[in-house]
Amino acid sequence: MSLVIFVIALILIFICYEYYRFVRHVKKHLDHIPAPPALPFMGHIMYFANPKEILKDLVTMAQNFDGFVKIHFFQIYSLIITDPEKIEKILGTTRMLNKSSEYSHFNRWLGTGLLTSEPAKWRKSRKMLTPTFHFQILEKYIDLTGRNSTFTHPDVTLCTLDVICETAMGTSVNAQKHSNSEYVKSVQIMNEIIRTRLFSPFKRFNCIYYLTGDYRAEKRALKTIHGYTTSVIEKRKKELEENGNYIIDCNSNSKKRLAFLDLLLQCELDEKPLTNEQIREEVDTFMFEGHDTTASAMAFSLYCLAREFTRTGFSSKGIE
Ligand code: HEM
Repeated sequence: MSLVIFVIALILIFICYEYYRFVRHVKKHLDHIPAPPALPFMGHIMYFANPKEILKDLVTMAQNFDGFVKIHFFQIYSLIITDPEKIEKILGTTRMLNKSSEYSHFNRWLGTGLLTSEPAKWRKSRKMLTPTFHFQILEKYIDLTGRNSTFTHPDVTLCTLDVICETAMGTSVNAQKHSNSEYVKSVQIMNEIIRTRLFSPFKRFNCIYYLTGDYRAEKRALKTIHGYTTSVIEKRKKELEENGNYIIDCNSNSKKRLAFLDLLLQCELDEKPLTNEQIREEVDTFMFEGHDTTASAMAFSLYCLAREFTRTGFSSKGIE
């Protein structure tokens, strides 16, 4: 009995010590940064009450503090920065390459591809992948982007999904014609689940998230997404083996359009070809990064054009 009490006491002392170290660390590094009034322990939970308004609320709050403010939720601290000069300093440094804890929500989907990897792996992968963005390779895809163009917001997302699927994997999911396909629906489900998790005060904790229907939906969606990507990789690998591997020359003027996957199949990391798992991580990363971002940018541009058109009709120089 006394041994049990001793062990419990040791664990409690360890927890208290770790908590003390954490508070000291926060005090040392974050004490000088302003913060709005907070609730004891729970911190700024009130800003998470309405996830739909959270971005707007946080930006307004930061602007009230000269574009630089700290908030915390329990013991999770975040800095909200809207001042462009401060943002430039942070993004311009190579000292901070670690991703924040929120990125771990992507891990089951994207593994440790370029977006989510730790600095050591990121440096190697970035070096390996940069040549695949040679402008002569990108030029070959311009007509593909044009060919898939459509005009409304949900269509734009399906359109960018079609474009990225062809450019990343060399396959066609025909998202615009078959928006109910399992793969397209699964990608959309994953986008929504991660968006909700990022702004939910409770689902960010794995122990709570694992109890939700979202987690079960995530498992189903990932089975479909990974199954599709893996089957495309295996098929392409087989084709390459049957036809004899070809060497990519980025400076070649050939009109042959190689998918990102083709380039990955010929890349080497640490002098070894990439495994199927490594290839899948990068392909899934590009699938995610390449469609949601461009869809938002295109939808926002269309919104601005429509607003300008409503205001001025076709007389606006900008619209011409
Ligand atoms: C308007 C369109 C786009 C915007 C606004 C955008 C924005 C961003 C931002 C802000 C990051 C940094 C994310 C971070 O480190 O946390 C990023 C990284 C990345 N983006 Fe994009 N992106 C766009 C289009 C694309 C496209 C079309 C692709 C692929 C075809 C792509 C692939 C990637 C990849 C792989 C990364 C990780 C890069 C690295 O860490 O080295 N993005 N993007």
